[in-house]
Amino acid sequence: MTVRAQQALQTAEAVLYDALVSPEVLELAPETSLKIETGKRGGQLSMSQVEINRLMLSLARRGLKVVRLKGGDPSVFGRSGEETAFLAGHGVAFEVIPGVTAASAAAAQFGFPLTHRQQAHRVILATARTQNGAVSLDSGAALADPQATLALYMGRDSLAEVSAVLIAAGRDGATPALAVERAGYDHARRVCSDLKGIAEAVHVAGFSGPVVVIVGSVAGFAQAAV
Ligand SMILES: C[S@@+](CC[C@H](N)C(=O)[O-])C[C@H]1O[C@@H](n2cnc3c(N)ncnc32)[C@H](O)[C@@H]1O
Repeated sequence: MTVRAQQALQTAEAVLYDALVSPEVLELAPETSLKIETGKRGGQLSMSQVEINRLMLSLARRGLKVVRLKGGDPSVFGRSGEETAFLAGHGVAFEVIPGVTAASAAAAQFGFPLTHRQQAHRVILATARTQNGAVSLDSGAALADPQATLALYMGRDSLAEVSAVLIAAGRDGATPALAVERAGYDHARRVCSDLKGIAEAVHVAGFSGPVVVIVGSVAGFAQAAV
C-alpha cells in the first residue's frame, strides 16, 4: 500500500473494509476507530452497494474521517466510480488513494512483466463476471490480440468457459497462462500452464482464494522462473 494510504488509515475514525483486506492492514487503523466489514467472508452476505453508500454518507455527516478500504486498486473492479459519484452527488469531499492491483502484485511476486517491448504492447484488465452473474467476455479482436496481455479478474470459477471464449475469438490455445492465488501475500500460490490447460490446472491446485489469471506471452517469464 502507498504511504498516503497508510497515513489515511492511521488517522481514520471509521473504516469500512472489504473482505479482501488483510488483517495486518486493518491493524494500522487506530484501535478506537469504528471498523465495519462490508464484504463477504465465511459465507456471510455482503452489504449491498446502497447500504454501503448510505453508511459512508451517514458517518461522514457525523463529522467522522471515513476510510473506505478495499483490496488492490480501488479503480480496478473496485466500484470506485459508483462510490465517488455518490459522494460527489451528496457534496461529500473525498480523495481516492491508488493501490496495487492484483495483476501488478502477481507480476512483481512471480517474476514476469505485464508489458514487454517486443512481446506485449497492451494490457487488458477484464472480468468474466458481469453484474447479473452471467459469464460474458467481449470476444472482440482485442482479446485475441497476441500482443495484448490479458489479466482476468473474478474468473476462477468460470475459467473453462473463459478459455473457450478466448480460443474461439482467435487466441492460440498454446498461449502461456498462469493463475496466481492471493497475489502479494506471503502464502501466494501460482500454477503455470497454457490457455487451453489453465482451467484444469487451477482445478487440480484447488485454489479457493482470490485468483488473477494472466494470459499472454509474458506469462512465459514466470514459467521460466519456476
Ligand atoms: C472485486 S475484484 C477487486 C480487484 C482489486 N480492486 C484489485 O485491484 O486487485 C476481486 C477480484 O480481484 C482479484 N484479486 C483481488 N485480490 C487478489 C489477490 N490478492 N490475488 C489474486 N487475485 C486477486 C480476484 O480475481 C478477485 O476475484
